[in-house]
Amino acid sequence: MPDQPHLLIDRLPKCELHIHIEGSLEPELMFALAQRNKVKLPFASVEEVRKAYQFSQLQDFLDIYYQGMSVLITEQDFFDLAWAYLERARADNVRYVEMFFDPQGHTSRGVAFATVVGGLHRACQEAAARLGIRASLIMCFLRHLSEAEAEATLDQAQAHRSRIIGVGLDSSEKGHPPSKFRTVYRRAREMGLHLVAHAGEEGPPEYVWEALDVLGVERVDHGNRSLEDDSLVARLARERMPLTVCPLSNLKLCVVRDLRRHPLRRMMDKGLTVTVNSDDPAYFGGYVGDNYRAVQQALGLGRDELIAVARNGFLAAFMPEDERKKALTEFDAAVAALGR
Ligand code: HPA
Ligand code: ZN
Repeated sequence: MPDQPHLLIDRLPKCELHIHIEGSLEPELMFALAQRNKVKLPFASVEEVRKAYQFSQLQDFLDIYYQGMSVLITEQDFFDLAWAYLERARADNVRYVEMFFDPQGHTSRGVAFATVVGGLHRACQEAAARLGIRASLIMCFLRHLSEAEAEATLDQAQAHRSRIIGVGLDSSEKGHPPSKFRTVYRRAREMGLHLVAHAGEEGPPEYVWEALDVLGVERVDHGNRSLEDDSLVARLARERMPLTVCPLSNLKLCVVRDLRRHPLRRMMDKGLTVTVNSDDPAYFGGYVGDNYRAVQQALGLGRDELIAVARNGFLAAFMPEDERKKALTEFDAAVAALGR
């Protein structure tokens, strides 16, 4: 066993199930694409962009995140964005990725749905061949927009059904409960899509209940505020409902004041199926490995806890059962090879 937790973290095979691909746009690539596409940015330099990344709540981040994605115009841009992320994931020993994308952030600017999906899908395919990573796409609806707009987005997705494995719900949580999207989720389920939603990041436990009971989600993204409701915690534990937790995001968006107060360990102690993810790594100061290291250090997670969290990723992933069995066997073999 590597006696350094950091070595163990490096070597553990990982999944990433909560990454907004537009949130992996590093300032350097933002500037390169702005130049390539002749888009004007309100920042003079990479340093100036990084300095602007000070947030006191989710909305502060979202304002700058939607502005940043304005440089993404062509299919190649979307490929380059996803490829840069996938190379970083490979360096973190990530084997399996489900990436979120926000089609409405692009179609609202006149970029075709097909352009977005085309570039992202090509990167996912190349990742299997060149990086040994299985990657797929989850399309998110922007919850500050109407359900009718989400439905129009689902209509556009029909032509690309085979390239999308599920739908999610992101953007401004407060005031936009999951129940606002009841009908579009029912339709997505009828299309055979997997269902997830952000809930309990800033919103109350009631939003997590709604995500479960009204939308019928199979995983909850974030879910931090579930801990305020004991009967909700019991339900999540009983159903082994995975939570995709994002520690550095929580810190940057002031969902937690200090990583030492992060609820991840409490979640584990209550029997919840927690996974560790990066959310928007270019904005929140770290990729998935950085998130593992940060939370390990802050909470003093031990070897068995780190292994359990990484293994949960493979339990929570939307892969066919035969593939999951194989992935878990490989995971257990990789852990055994590390020794004690
Ligand atoms: N929360 C909600 N919406 C988002 C996020 C997030 O952390 N990142 C990108 N869209
Ligand atoms: Zn998110």
